[in-house]
Amino acid sequence: MTPVPPTPTAPPSGSRIISLGHYQPARILTNDDLAELVDTNDEWIRTRVGIAQRRVAGDETVADMAAAAAEKALAGSGLTAADIDLVAVATCSSVDRCPNVATRVAARLGITAPAAYDINTACSGFSYALATADHAIRAGAARNAIVIGAEKLTEFTDWTDRATCILFGDGAGAAVVTATAAGEPTGIGPVLWGSAPERGDVVVIEGWRPYIQQEGQAVFRWATTTLPGLAREACQRAGVEPAELAAFVPHQANLRIIDPLARKLGAPDAVVARDIVESGNTSAASVPLAWSKLVERREIPSGAPVLLFGFGGGLTYAGQVVRCP
Ligand code: UT7
Repeated sequence: MTPVPPTPTAPPSGSRIISLGHYQPARILTNDDLAELVDTNDEWIRTRVGIAQRRVAGDETVADMAAAAAEKALAGSGLTAADIDLVAVATCSSVDRCPNVATRVAARLGITAPAAYDINTACSGFSYALATADHAIRAGAARNAIVIGAEKLTEFTDWTDRATCILFGDGAGAAVVTATAAGEPTGIGPVLWGSAPERGDVVVIEGWRPYIQQEGQAVFRWATTTLPGLAREACQRAGVEPAELAAFVPHQANLRIIDPLARKLGAPDAVVARDIVESGNTSAASVPLAWSKLVERREIPSGAPVLLFGFGGGLTYAGQVVRCP
């Protein structure tokens, strides 16, 4: 008997995010705590950067925090570990070279045989990882993905350098992404991604015992002059006017970057993520962490358009308009 060929299934229209989760270590480090370590003070940190406190991991590794965030996202998704066929982790602070963080997360959650990879584009990493998962789903290479941003930057912090040690914190955020059926509207818009590699040396974590070092003002100028146009371009690619955005979730580097960026974007009614106040700069974790907290507090309606926009070391950037789960 001639075998019956399988019924061809229509390719997915794209993908959408169905749930979010986040994890932060319990230990809080305040500005006053830092003033006991270096010559700084609460007023300088709040007015120059906007940070009131940050979370610092103890024994937790990047993989521990990534798995904790992913577990929460998966629990809220209605899917099980058996449904997940792709795990992507954005991080620049995993100490181990191998195995990667994604396979450790998969093992922890009981996800068998997923495509599992880490991405390092520093602070823009979550939007890069989200785009690759969306592309894999569109190409038919995956159906359900977990995308994570996780960092333990305090492991790479020079606690004697007041210019950097006040900035960074630890944590993780995760999203479960699923295919949208043919004809169903997609929930992840086209990515706008790129870099300015000729200026890559302005943020570095280099060498065998590395610390984060940066030319803060150079990054600041780039972020406040170049990025507003790129953030608008990400909206344009999705066919969404900035004024229609329900929320804007940029990388949490500095309130003096976030607020002008939001103003220049032209989204007066959008909820703007300002999680930096509570969490500091958590690099690739900052966007999913801040977004997950806004969703948990029900500050963004389900289905509403949200602009995610990451930028930082490399210098890299990436952003896309997504629909809120
Ligand atoms: O996420 C990765 C991408 N990174 C970024 O997006 C960072 C972008 N850059 C920034 O956010 C800001 O440049 C910083 C927050 C890093 C620094 O703020 P700034 O307003 O550019 O300060 P500055 O480095 O120009 O320093 C101004 C003054 C200096 O003193 P003098 O030379 O004017 O006497 C610093 O020594 O502030 C001094 N200073 C501090 N004072 C108290 C630097 N750090 C501190 C501190 N406490 N922690």
